[in-house]
Amino acid sequence: MRYLVTGGAGFIGSNTVDELVSRGHSVVVLDDLSSGKEDHLAEIRNKITFIKGSVTDIEVVRKAMHEAEYVLHLAARTSVPRSVKDPIETNRINVDGTLNVLVAAKEMKVKRVVLAASSSAYGETPTLPKAETMQPQPISPYGVTKYVGELYGQAFGRCYGLENVALRYFNIFGPRQDPSSPYSGVLAKFCAAFLEETQPVVFGDGEQTRDFTFVDNAVLANLLACEAPNVSGRVFNVGTGGRVSPNQVLLTLARITGKTLEAKYDPPREGDIRDSQADISRAREFLGYRPQVGFEEGLTLTFEWYRSTQAKTQAKSET
Ligand SMILES: NC(=O)c1ccc[n+]([C@@H]2O[C@H](COP(=O)([O-])OP(=O)(O)OC[C@H]3O[C@@H](n4cnc5c(N)ncnc54)[C@H](O)[C@@H]3O)[C@@H](O)[C@H]2O)c1
Repeated sequence: MRYLVTGGAGFIGSNTVDELVSRGHSVVVLDDLSSGKEDHLAEIRNKITFIKGSVTDIEVVRKAMHEAEYVLHLAARTSVPRSVKDPIETNRINVDGTLNVLVAAKEMKVKRVVLAASSSAYGETPTLPKAETMQPQPISPYGVTKYVGELYGQAFGRCYGLENVALRYFNIFGPRQDPSSPYSGVLAKFCAAFLEETQPVVFGDGEQTRDFTFVDNAVLANLLACEAPNVSGRVFNVGTGGRVSPNQVLLTLARITGKTLEAKYDPPREGDIRDSQADISRAREFLGYRPQVGFEEGLTLTFEWYRSTQAKTQAKSET
């Protein structure tokens, strides 16, 4: 099968590309490298086609989509603060870019487009867990753009028969994540604190919770969403169904590393929601999705990745 992965040099995208290549698929990556890195694709570089370009240029999107059967559209500007500062640019990339992908997919008659949506669609609603039947209430320009992407996908299904599925990822974490990520950057920062034995900083009382989801689970959901029958136009939560607090993350890292660090508690950050947790029963039923890697195992793998990356960087700087 031939796949186009937009944003394939990013965190979730590159992990997805690795899995597609290991399953023997042909893969084209379209990425402008604004936050992704070609390095993330280094090990499989000679097995894929990489196109450096933007989803905001429909001609580039058309070229990248040539002969694609499935499109995984992950390219986006993901920063919430940047979307607040410059909503026009976030809209251009996330909404106009998604529209270009859908138009090209319709023209090229691809089998299905899988859209990277976001748990940010739920906004501040206190109800837990979050189910897809709840009314979306995004509270940032970024959240709005992600929700608009879902709606465009559904409209293209109705108007042009283009098959599409939207996946609302919940706080995905794992190797290659940029520590500044708004979703799970805290895990990367805590890993760094344990590696360097510095004081981890917790915002608020550390009892707020998130459905931290190891990236392999999101990759699995991406592939299932391409293949599952009778799901076009549907939206699915992709999480684990659990929730973990920063205080629990610190205890888990203490167990993994055998070290105990005293956290510094700073005032809560403005705009942070208190709790988030996915109801994954719809994804379970329609996609056959079952999270494969639990939180502690995922955190162990992530910590090991940061440790080996740090060791490689140190070795490089010494030579
Ligand atoms: N990480 C999470 O927990 C999470 C949660 C909800 C939704 N998402 C969504 O998942 C997708 C992937 O997120 P990620 O965490 O891997 O972030 P990421 O920043 O690592 O990946 C985004 C990729 O898109 C590329 N990109 C940005 N603008 C582009 C453009 N104009 N043209 C082509 N490529 C462009 C970037 O270079 C990067 O490689 C995004 O759509 C994001 O909104 C992620």
